[in-house]
Amino acid sequence: MEIRVQRAPLIEADIEVPGDKSISHRSAMFAALSDGACRLRNYLPGEDCLGTLRVLRQLGVTIESLSPSEHVVHGLRGRFSEPQGDLDCGNSGTTMRLMSGLLAAQPFRCRLTGDASLSRRPMRRIMEPLQQMGAVFEAEGEGGCPPLVIRGTAGLRPLAYRLPVPSAQVKSAILLAGLFADGVTTVDQPVPTRDHTERLLEYFGVPVTREGTSVSVRGGTLPRARDVDVPGDVSSAAFWLVAAATQPGSSVRVRNLGLNPTRTGILAVLLRMGAKLREEEETKGPGEPCGRIEIVGRSLRGTEIGGAEIPNVIDELPVLAVAGALAGGTTVIKDAAELRVKESDRLAVVARHLAAMGADVTEHPDGLEIRGGRPLHGARLESHGDHRIAMAFAIAGLFADGETVIEDASCVETSYPGFAGQLERIAHGRR
Ligand code: S3P
Repeated sequence: MEIRVQRAPLIEADIEVPGDKSISHRSAMFAALSDGACRLRNYLPGEDCLGTLRVLRQLGVTIESLSPSEHVVHGLRGRFSEPQGDLDCGNSGTTMRLMSGLLAAQPFRCRLTGDASLSRRPMRRIMEPLQQMGAVFEAEGEGGCPPLVIRGTAGLRPLAYRLPVPSAQVKSAILLAGLFADGVTTVDQPVPTRDHTERLLEYFGVPVTREGTSVSVRGGTLPRARDVDVPGDVSSAAFWLVAAATQPGSSVRVRNLGLNPTRTGILAVLLRMGAKLREEEETKGPGEPCGRIEIVGRSLRGTEIGGAEIPNVIDELPVLAVAGALAGGTTVIKDAAELRVKESDRLAVVARHLAAMGADVTEHPDGLEIRGGRPLHGARLESHGDHRIAMAFAIAGLFADGETVIEDASCVETSYPGFAGQLERIAHGRR
């Protein structure tokens, strides 16, 4: 599938976006660990999160799928059964890393596989701490990459671990294994990362202690059955926020959106760049703030994005780089080498695609420097099988002369089913 985009002079939209990917994965996993039936509503019907349901089913969990976005998960009180065959995690790093934490505590062997992109992603970051807790891991790929063979044990040791990379997936894998360990497991995160695991565990009745930069769980308490209403994904809203923010006269309102402060760094960045924003917190989701935001376009100026802000905007950096190319002045993204080990090497691909569209960009080992304001022109761009690259450059195409074609764009289904249709509606709704 290809996405074809033409310039859209003004954008005006009032929308919802699909459920949050991080919260959907966690809600399914915690429900599967729980002591009863949990109804998950507004579950992200993207391939990544449907993959998590598939893996859980292979582990013996009964899941009634009422629709692609509504599922009833029947918890197994922390005891999965040995799967038949490999557990295919598809494109999803979150599935592989968080499930590894759970499987470390299950007394059987299993093998986790993934697609070509996931098979290139680093897994030592979870293997090392989980091995210290007593599980046996083997990475069959080169340099600690998948497939992963896990031999779990019912007798995990607790761990005190300082995260060497600011990663919510690593933190979560350790905390989930910690639920089964004999004592208190603590993860120290010098740089804060998204805290959905902590919030959702508490929502499911598991005590979590936060002290300074550390998060701890005591083994032995498993989640209690709870229903979950998943809020909209701010990482998906990011595409429309940037599309509206970069152009005076455009505006976008997004309803039912997750507004967890460890995820809303994009709002702070767009404000710094000069966008006008209104945020209304409406309801409490599953321990998560949720509400409505409205963004109004202005002429944006460049900004610097780096340091502790990076984990908060990690998935939004490709589209923020597009905003940088459309803004006046220079935008610098630094301390973001993690982008090289996402679904693609996002620093290299963003730099190449921006340059192909006429932007003035320099790639650095840990970031990008974009001298914005040059007119963009359409181009044929490969997605590299990376959903966020495909969507970020579809947005760039709204501001380019001529046609932009995103090749191999079916990967958007990973996190944003319906993106192409919504793009067409929003672009056609132009005045
Ligand atoms: C995620 C954490 C981030 C993010 C990913 C989802 C999560 O990855 O990029 O899309 O749900 O915990 P890292 O933990 O590798 O930074």
